[in-house]
Amino acid sequence: MQGQENLNPDPSSGAGQGNPPLSAAQRSNLLPLTAAGYAWWRARSLRALGADFSLEREAALFRALCRPLPGQDWLDVGTSAGFYAGVLARQGCRVLAVDLSAPMLREGAKREPDARIDWAQLNMERSDLPPASFDGVTVGATLNETRGPADLLRECARVLRPGGQLWLMYLRRTGGPLQAVLGHPAAGGLNFPDPAWVGRCLPGLTRTDGLGVGAVQFERYVKSA
Ligand SMILES: C[S@@+](CC[C@H](N)C(=O)[O-])C[C@H]1O[C@@H](n2cnc3c(N)ncnc32)[C@H](O)[C@@H]1O
Repeated sequence: MQGQENLNPDPSSGAGQGNPPLSAAQRSNLLPLTAAGYAWWRARSLRALGADFSLEREAALFRALCRPLPGQDWLDVGTSAGFYAGVLARQGCRVLAVDLSAPMLREGAKREPDARIDWAQLNMERSDLPPASFDGVTVGATLNETRGPADLLRECARVLRPGGQLWLMYLRRTGGPLQAVLGHPAAGGLNFPDPAWVGRCLPGLTRTDGLGVGAVQFERYVKSA
């Protein structure tokens, strides 16, 4: 696979190896079957979750608010099938697309074969990426699946350059019974963050835009210069 490397010793091994432990949702993404079906699900997921939002509309919203420029360095966190990595590469950006799951990275590289994208296996809750090394970071729904969303947000903020932007798409807390079930460790251990909590996890960043469509939340933050 073009440009793929492993940036943690063994990011999918979980606790006991010096790596953050994994939730059931994270472990399910390590399966080749999950990776094979992900792009199909992603194209339908927002509508299935009650937000009438196509992938084209999501990409257009991202481009309109973040205006990624050719030659910028972007990090796509939890890239899965490479949706945001592909959008960014088509804008002329250099992209590091990271994911815990090797099968997801293989799927992404197959679907978005672009020389401007490098693919790397990495747990973004605790990365060794250099500080202040990206102009922008995209996090499409990875906040819902990662075991430690506060750790992941802290890492995203750390690797952003001053003036850099953070784009988040996630399912926000509704307090509904289904979210309570899915939040149980045995049923996935998913997180449904409250936008105010997300803001508190990002000191030094300012929220410039926020849009809720059903339970889906889109947000843009900028790191203080
Ligand atoms: C909901 S999918 C992301 C979809 C993708 N960002 C998009 O917009 O189409 C979540 C992905 O994040 C990955 N993931 C979960 N926790 C992670 C972490 N701590 N570090 C890196 N990747 C993670 C999973 O393996 C999975 O592929």
